Amino acid sequence: MPAALKTPILFLGATGYIGGSVLARLLARPDADSLEITALVRSEAKARKLEAFGVKTVLGSIQDTDVLENLASQSHVVFSIADCDDVPQIEAILRGLKTRRASGDYPILIHTSGTGVFVTEAKGMYPRELVYDDTDPAQIETLPLEAQHRPVDLRIVQADKEGYVRTYIILPCAIYGIASTVLTAAGVQNPYSVQIPTLIRAALARKQGGMVGRGAAVWNNVHVDDVADLYLVLYSAATAPGSTTPHGREGFYIAENGTHAWSAVGKQVAQVLYDRGLGGSPEPTTFSARELVEHFGSEETGNFLVGSNSRGVANRSRAVGWKPRYTNEDMLASIAPEVEAVLKQQGSR
Ligand SMILES: NC(=O)c1ccc[n+]([C@@H]2O[C@H](COP(=O)([O-])OP(=O)(O)OC[C@H]3O[C@@H](n4cnc5c(N)ncnc54)[C@H](OP(=O)(O)O)[C@@H]3O)[C@@H](O)[C@H]2O)c1
Repeated sequence: MPAALKTPILFLGATGYIGGSVLARLLARPDADSLEITALVRSEAKARKLEAFGVKTVLGSIQDTDVLENLASQSHVVFSIADCDDVPQIEAILRGLKTRRASGDYPILIHTSGTGVFVTEAKGMYPRELVYDDTDPAQIETLPLEAQHRPVDLRIVQADKEGYVRTYIILPCAIYGIASTVLTAAGVQNPYSVQIPTLIRAALARKQGGMVGRGAAVWNNVHVDDVADLYLVLYSAATAPGSTTPHGREGFYIAENGTHAWSAVGKQVAQVLYDRGLGGSPEPTTFSARELVEHFGSEETGNFLVGSNSRGVANRSRAVGWKPRYTNEDMLASIAPEVEAVLKQQGSR
């Protein structure tokens, strides 16, 4: 298809765990030939590999705000999957999309936030019953302004309200599973998530599965493939002619398909290590303050990642046709291969 007729898409986070999984799906669409995808990439080696898939690349960082603004101004759709907390980045994207609007297009922003926005501290001691519903904007608006990701999300909603961009914000929870795509096979995409692999590395280092406090705090979980599917469902819905898919204030889409107490994840890690002779007990033990610093970087980070409460329900995501396939059982079953992967990275297997 001639370049002038193609849909210009700017992709941020193409080499990441989530972003690579989304990009691989975009490239596999039957209409992929009608898309002109440009990825902003930090590494020249990764850029070369992405180009082999027909992706145009620009070398640079999201901190290069002039570059970002200019790229956004040339895009009908922006996938923002690099950083959910960088305010100058989002302001640059929005400035670019405002310019795009002035040229007659009505552009689309699909941005990645996270259910970290719902977090309340518990130090692992108790669950919290409050569940945020993505079909309830008034409830989401009760979140504190200083909540994680909120400063970026609020700027996005305001831009939609001003009418120059349609915005869709995806909020994944604790994503699990080792990504397996054409981009991981090519060595260009990070295949690993954050929370469960960090818990596993900590357990291997102390030779014992662990948890924060009593492990009583609760999060949602979702498989990386299901998360990536949600981006594609939303992309199709948002780009459909005459789309009425909710956006802006109503454009929050949670990605979750399971709920766990962190004790259950700690228990599974402890069991896997114990079965392999790598852990002392099949029951998780509580991380000391010193261990949280050692294995998670700080007490605060450990408490946030695997000791806090964060609960939401993906009613709006399901209402637009998202059908997640993986369940809590899959999350628990994903831990043994994750342990294998960490051991392999550490050169122990
Ligand atoms: N994983 C989860 O469970 C989860 C859940 C909810 C929300 N999130 C959020 O979703 C976002 C993506 O997460 P992820 O797990 O996919 O992380 P990831 O695997 O580390 O991927 C991040 C992507 O963004 C790119 N990137 C980061 N900083 C950049 C910069 N300054 N300039 C240009 N590119 C940059 C990375 O490029 P390089 O290849 O150069 O590093 C990579 O492509 C993050 O904001 C994360 O907090 C993640």
